[in-house]
Amino acid sequence: MHDIPVTRAAAHKPIPQDLKASFGDYFSDHMFQMEYTEGLGWHDPRIVPFGPLQLHPSSSVIQYAQAIFDGSKGYRREDGSIHLFRPQAHIARLNRSAGELCMPAVDPDLVLAAMRQLIDLDRDWVPAKRGNAIYVRQTMVGTEGYMVVRPSRTYTYLIFLCPVGSYYSEGAGPVRILVSETRVRAAKGAIGSAKAGANYAASLKVGREAAAAGFSQVLWLDSVQRRYLEEVGTMNIMVKIGGRIFTPPLSDSILPGITRDSVLKLMRDWAMEVAEAPIDIEDVIAASRTGTLEEMWGVGTAAVISPVGELAWRGEKIVVNGGQTGPVAAKLFEHLTGLHAGTVPDSHGWSVA
Ligand code: COI
Repeated sequence: MHDIPVTRAAAHKPIPQDLKASFGDYFSDHMFQMEYTEGLGWHDPRIVPFGPLQLHPSSSVIQYAQAIFDGSKGYRREDGSIHLFRPQAHIARLNRSAGELCMPAVDPDLVLAAMRQLIDLDRDWVPAKRGNAIYVRQTMVGTEGYMVVRPSRTYTYLIFLCPVGSYYSEGAGPVRILVSETRVRAAKGAIGSAKAGANYAASLKVGREAAAAGFSQVLWLDSVQRRYLEEVGTMNIMVKIGGRIFTPPLSDSILPGITRDSVLKLMRDWAMEVAEAPIDIEDVIAASRTGTLEEMWGVGTAAVISPVGELAWRGEKIVVNGGQTGPVAAKLFEHLTGLHAGTVPDSHGWSVA
């Protein structure tokens, strides 16, 4: 049992009732914080008012992007209880990301206790409307100030909370996607499987070009052949072709999505034919021409399920399932949001009170 000391915020911020603005525009009143010092380990776990950090201008996070994060969600049920969805999996993934960037692991029990205590303190911030959630952002940054390129010897770890609605302005509706042939999200052998801030920085330029051309997100291809599907926007990608569902196998350039894992387990529970296998963009285009490209969707914690309605590839427009949400994406969305709301049986024990 961890009893984490709390310094309460002097004033409470107004809690937004309309979450239609951008995802993560609002931050609750408090955050969890602790520090790491080499030789000492993690110390001073505490809950404090949400607010700015003081950082050395030459800290490793500022100079060399030694930063990781993870995002999970908590949901308020009709009876008022609040449940976290697969928090342990998200903490384990943060520790995995930490290993990739030579950062120290956190104690999963302490961090889970911190999430619960923080959410309990800021419980009024957890939205009640179905589909809305409290987004639980874990963050770790290197704080030591120095200049040579090496891992930091000190770190700060944070958990803070954002009440959120849907990630895309389209809500859970189909999105238009630009296939990027020029840039990649992550190179083979690099840190694409870690939830490192640097991977998101690498996505910004094409993301902006895609947005300017009217697309919601980018479909990323592999860095070697620019041929195999990797991810879509900030999500893992799934495709249904000729009755079979495919998703790229995990690799050093693909994030091991928790929603990807949940969705694979659910589809296997439902005896759907699912393969973790490379997907060639040429096969997707060929399938769209022969009429066997049935569905395509992204899966991620933020958007949950995001159907792809249209792909742009080498100037060609590929419409998927008539630009509509397909039956598998719709079923997954209904089931996952039902699990979040506690209205369907949680046979995997994913929700944690
Ligand atoms: C997710 O899709 O869950 C994400 O990682 C989105 C996040 C970068 C806001």
